[in-house]
Amino acid sequence: MCGIVGAVANRDIIPTLIDGLKRLEYRGYDSAGLAVVDSHNELDLRRSVGRVASLEGICESVSGMTGVAHTRWATHGRPAENNAHPHTSSSQVAVVHNGIIENHNELRALQKEQGFPFSSETDTEVIVHQIDWHMQKGMGLLEAVKTTVKELDGAYGLGVVSKQEPDLLIAARSGSPLLIGLGDSENFIASDMSALIPVSQKYMVLEDGDIAKITSDSVEIFDQTGAAVEREVLISTLSDEETELGGFSHYMKKEIHEQTRAITETLEGRLGADSVLELPFGDSAREIFDKTKEIKIIACGTSYNAASVARYWFEEFGIKCDVEIASEYRYRKHVVNEGTLFVTISQSGETLDTMAALEMAKTLGYTNTLCICNVPESSLVRASDLTIFTHAGREIGVASTKAFTTQLVTLLMLAICLRRRRIGDGRTSDSMEAEIVQELRTLPQQIENALDLEDDIIAMSKHFADKHHTLFLGRGAHYPIAVEGALKLKEISYIHAEAYAAGELKHGPLALIDEDMPVVAVAPNDELLEKLKSNLEEVRARGGKLYVFADANSGLESDDETMVLKVAPVNNYIAPVIYTIPLQLLSYHVALLKGTDIDKPRNLAKSVTVE
Ligand code: AGP
Repeated sequence: MCGIVGAVANRDIIPTLIDGLKRLEYRGYDSAGLAVVDSHNELDLRRSVGRVASLEGICESVSGMTGVAHTRWATHGRPAENNAHPHTSSSQVAVVHNGIIENHNELRALQKEQGFPFSSETDTEVIVHQIDWHMQKGMGLLEAVKTTVKELDGAYGLGVVSKQEPDLLIAARSGSPLLIGLGDSENFIASDMSALIPVSQKYMVLEDGDIAKITSDSVEIFDQTGAAVEREVLISTLSDEETELGGFSHYMKKEIHEQTRAITETLEGRLGADSVLELPFGDSAREIFDKTKEIKIIACGTSYNAASVARYWFEEFGIKCDVEIASEYRYRKHVVNEGTLFVTISQSGETLDTMAALEMAKTLGYTNTLCICNVPESSLVRASDLTIFTHAGREIGVASTKAFTTQLVTLLMLAICLRRRRIGDGRTSDSMEAEIVQELRTLPQQIENALDLEDDIIAMSKHFADKHHTLFLGRGAHYPIAVEGALKLKEISYIHAEAYAAGELKHGPLALIDEDMPVVAVAPNDELLEKLKSNLEEVRARGGKLYVFADANSGLESDDETMVLKVAPVNNYIAPVIYTIPLQLLSYHVALLKGTDIDKPRNLAKSVTVE
């Protein structure tokens, strides 16, 4: 999704802006641009469609000490040079913007009457004309931005520069993340701290309504009432090591293989001898869990799939659990039972729908809020009562892999903590908890074993590369695992993939079965195995081709119509984590055969910060 970088320094900032944009490439974008105030005090604007490397190619002769840069992921207006940011007005002001301005049509009509020419189809262009308009009426840049944001409806993270005040960078935030990176006689802004790794470790997070006046040696922040405020200076732990490919062909492959370490780190410090610890969920976790009678989980995409798996665990443990997609939750009425803990799950912590759902939930009488997140600096973390981090490490591939499995592990730990209140005094663990804890300790090794299936999966992937449709089947907690497998395949290979609870086949999708529709199934050795086998027979009887990841003791064997890959026997509670691995590998190798842009699939963004 769109990325912002800005800088004000006593040196040429073009290399910093370009490097920052490259570091944001993983978020997904379709065009890029920058504007600096040059040595003649003129705005120099460069924009191009496609990769940041193309922009770099047209910036060789540009230099400046104050400027803003942007990667754009199209919302209003197709990917095109004129729609790329920055947008300028009268060659005086340049603006980069993340978010959406909902009243852009009204502002555009007004500005046309005022004589402003429009050169793009974007909602952003109205912002820069509005700032320019106020400056033409005599305001300085800061006042003009302050006045303009009051006239905007919608979400924005803004970086603004003007040739009239060449040593000044203005930042403003409402609904879209924006940070200020602090350097030595130079300061920066970015939508994501990873853009600033080489130039700044110290940073401040702007809160909604904040506007910052930034020079090379000062930062002043004003809140939405206009009062000067201090924001805490934080230290970033991000490093370049996390962003290197390290010999892997793609970040997605690297991240699939990092799951052993990611899960080890997610479990670290969270397990006692035979119990799950509660303090890692926050100082007030014990008190909040004592009050919790039921759970509501909200998330999007892969994080939603993790929540859907967890529902089976919570309810197995006697805890009512409701799971919903954030964009749906936001737009309906709710009945909230007393003692309901509102849980959000998000890899990025910046997904707009999830964030908005949390804000809405806070007005509805939930007991407390808990966030499961992978990014400590994120908005969702700051807005929640309790947070537990999935220590997956930075995930760069757009298709989520290690974030998903670490979310599963974290959700299982949460379910176990709440289960203790169902079986006893809420403090003492029992033999079942001890058994699951032992299984969690061996999970990293079991993931290694699942990764060893890769050669067989490479052979299997050849059966998919020329197909246009696939069906994924699972039952119980493995139905959402099938959904996640289908999501991975469609995201990176562009093959249409649908997932069904296998029992639903005969209620419609069986009509689709033929030899051109490979059917993938996950078959752990659980209480639903025999039912699943019957469902697979329904596919075979109609000439379907089956590709089954099955427990080694399931009794399922390969034949002419069915390819079975055997998975080492695994405890039922952690089986969903293990069965995820071969599905990730299958998607990856099918996409590799198809030659798609695996880490940055078309039309997708890593962090979805618009509605
Ligand atoms: C996963 O492969 C996707 N790219 C996507 O569904 C993602 O999980 C979703 O956008 C939610 O993101 P979040 O976890 O950062 O909130």
